Amino acid sequence: MGGGILITKAVAVVLVLVAVLGGSVQSVESAIGVNWGTISNHRLAPSTVVDLLRDNKIQKVKLFDADPDCLRALMGSGIEVMVGVSNDLLATLSSSSAAADLWVSQNVSRYMVRGGANIKYIAVGNEPFLTSYGGQFQSYVMPSITNLQQSLTKANLTNNVKLVVPCNADAYESSLPSQGAFRPELTQIMTDLVTFLNSNGSPFIVNIYPFLSLYSNSDFPQDYAFFEGTTHSVTDGPNVYYNAFDGNYDTLVSALNKLGFGQIPIVIGEVGWPTDGAITANVNAARVFNQGLINHVLSNKGTPLRPGQGPTDVYLFGLFDEEAKSVLPGGFERHWGIFSFDGQAKYALNLGLGNGLLRNAKDVHYLPFRWCVVDPLKDLSGVSDHFKLACTVADCTNLNYGGSCNGIGERGNISYAFNSYYQVQKQNSRSCEFDGLGMVTFLNPSMGECKFLVGVAEEVVTEHVSVGLQLYRGSVIVWLLIFWGFGVFMI
Ligand SMILES: *[C@@H]1O[C@H](CO)[C@@H](O)[C@H](O)[C@H]1NC(C)=O
Ligand SMILES: *[C@@H]1O[C@H](CO)[C@@H](O)[C@H](O)[C@H]1NC(C)=O
Ligand SMILES: *[C@@H]1O[C@H](CO)[C@@H](O)[C@H](O)[C@H]1NC(C)=O
Repeated sequence: MGGGILITKAVAVVLVLVAVLGGSVQSVESAIGVNWGTISNHRLAPSTVVDLLRDNKIQKVKLFDADPDCLRALMGSGIEVMVGVSNDLLATLSSSSAAADLWVSQNVSRYMVRGGANIKYIAVGNEPFLTSYGGQFQSYVMPSITNLQQSLTKANLTNNVKLVVPCNADAYESSLPSQGAFRPELTQIMTDLVTFLNSNGSPFIVNIYPFLSLYSNSDFPQDYAFFEGTTHSVTDGPNVYYNAFDGNYDTLVSALNKLGFGQIPIVIGEVGWPTDGAITANVNAARVFNQGLINHVLSNKGTPLRPGQGPTDVYLFGLFDEEAKSVLPGGFERHWGIFSFDGQAKYALNLGLGNGLLRNAKDVHYLPFRWCVVDPLKDLSGVSDHFKLACTVADCTNLNYGGSCNGIGERGNISYAFNSYYQVQKQNSRSCEFDGLGMVTFLNPSMGECKFLVGVAEEVVTEHVSVGLQLYRGSVIVWLLIFWGFGVFMI
């Protein structure tokens, strides 16, 4: 037990949002939002994604950048948006007010027009204090905030747009929640940050991952990660903790208390459970965790140190699987979505937004229903280089131990890899060659839980439409020329 149970040692990303409505009335409306990450080879059209958010009544979305396509699609939707400044921009923004002005004008102001995007927060960096970054970003955070706040003032946006900093839970530590404190080397910067957040009406944003505690610590009691009661409760003076989330949350409350800001609103920027690519990452665990979390938060029961008061908002991580993410943290990293890459709900989940269970994306345009597999008649010597290449470019983490496609045999493995690659290459026919070892099939090779995917073709469809239009215009012109020529000839 000890520290490992309460503290998420994460390597993640994230963030979230909040809804402290300004003014004297502290009307706090707790709600579930989502993180919309886009590190994927199979992206749905942003307009399809925004329709999906609307169909599911999701009113808050957190981006990791300020992608113009996503923001354009969000215009007019009324959905609250958190945009993000990436960590590698912090050095520039901290040293140049002109760079901060430019960033705000290009990525915020231009959307803050009538019928525009409802940008509420700018995340200044993403987990910039993460231990594994070795302090490389932390000195840039407050100077970047100062410059960006000045830019917002110049743009008359300070009433509408708040600066926040999503922190990983590794910013604080303790073996018991009541002893929580920020890491000693962060004391000064956290004091400055929280002082700013408090005076600006911004929440403190934290990412909490009980999954990673469980994944990285084989002694971690499995049921303490969930919300269904535990045989491993943690007693802390008069308080008893029944789940890792509450224990972690109150560790943060204690750390904030020590700085004199025990009442600052807290938003969960990222929280979730992956469904594939590792043992304990599966659809059932993800459903139980996320539903337990949502019910717990929306019950407003709060925690021992903040009774009757949940986090202001909770951003689930994430909306979709992102199968082009780094697998450094583990194969599960590509499988955090409540929806698969094509906008299909992975499991029944009620977000508590008055809408019942998750609804699937509509009008998804798939590539043709065909797959690339290994030719059953071919000898497999020499296949391993092809397998490696395919799995470097495309995602094969479902084959991992604990994954949904583990145990489909050697030929199954190779077919899975070939198909993943073929779909990433948009079914380009040469991408199924593999020196004659691959072949295209129209029979779905999926086996039980192991699904062989078919890619989506959103952008391609748009291109076809415009190419089609050009062909149409072209042929009209050709016919006009023929008639004209004919007319001239007749004369
Ligand atoms: C900011 O906006 C510019 C111009 O649209 C865009 O190229 C850039 O990617 C945006 N920055 C971020 C961090 O998303
Ligand atoms: C600044 O924004 C507020 C709304 O937040 C608006 O009422 C006011 O007119 C704006 N001022 C200027 C100078 O544009
Ligand atoms: C299939 O691939 C996975 C992941 O690379 C590996 O663990 C497993 O042993 C392979 N199975 C066979 C039969 O080669």
